Amino acid sequence: MSHRDEDPHRDDALLTAAHALTRSSRTVVFTGAGVSRESGIPTFREPETGLWARHDPMQLATPEAYRRDPAFVWSWYEHRFGVAAAAEPNPGHHAIAALEQLLPQVVVVTQNIDGLHQRAGSSHVIELHGTMHSFRCVDGRHRGFGWDDFAGQEERPPRCPECGDYLRPEVVWFGEGLPPEALSAAQQLSAGCDAMLVVGTSGVVYPAATVPLIAREAGATVIDVNPERDALAQMSDVFLRGPGGEVLPRLLAAVREHLGA
Ligand code: APR
Repeated sequence: MSHRDEDPHRDDALLTAAHALTRSSRTVVFTGAGVSRESGIPTFREPETGLWARHDPMQLATPEAYRRDPAFVWSWYEHRFGVAAAAEPNPGHHAIAALEQLLPQVVVVTQNIDGLHQRAGSSHVIELHGTMHSFRCVDGRHRGFGWDDFAGQEERPPRCPECGDYLRPEVVWFGEGLPPEALSAAQQLSAGCDAMLVVGTSGVVYPAATVPLIAREAGATVIDVNPERDALAQMSDVFLRGPGGEVLPRLLAAVREHLGA
């Protein structure tokens, strides 16, 4: 299929994408921060509004930063988590979840830690960069604590109920490896999918960004949804320009129409 860089308001690009999805028996949806943008959660690299446009990630999202000033890093994450906890899934998340009812197999591989795909009803979500809903002690001996496990503690960062060391979010910081089982599952699914729907990622952070490249190598049809041309747009078969909250419901409607659903 030749590369198509089209405005999604021209139906042929949308129909091409919908057709690829309806023919796909194994579909992977790969998402980044952009899919949560319309839920009010900032992205990382957008000029002005992106988190890394306003903060230095090396002061906030590395194990060294946490060792250097745990209270500062903890407070920043607690703020971010508060924003995400107050957010609601947007029509883009809901459209992705609705695809599960229409297509044989849909798996979401996300770089996001906000949990909005699960709250929208997606039942198979692989979190490559961890989650804001789980915490571990700094050396990783005790894992899987939830907010309730330290709600009664005044001290911030809270302490591990098992060993008394500081707790940290189970998110992947710069310089850290991705959860091996999540990464290998994502890469295996990408190598075996027929279609990959990429939504809201700049496609510049590795190894997560290998996911769409593996799908492309394996011959899957890659559809990229983004208001801007991101690093993956050029390698995609169809580039649908626009915000996920608008494009994805139109894509879902086109899939439904294709299926006569
Ligand atoms: N709908 C879809 N995409 C959007 C929207 C929207 N409404 N608004 C912005 N975007 C796009 C931007 O154009 C950009 O290409 O979302 C993308 C967000 O890119 P980044 O901010 O780089 O976020 P992401 O790709 O998820 O970053 C990957 O970097 O810092 C790490 O761990 C962090 O998981 C994150 C990783």
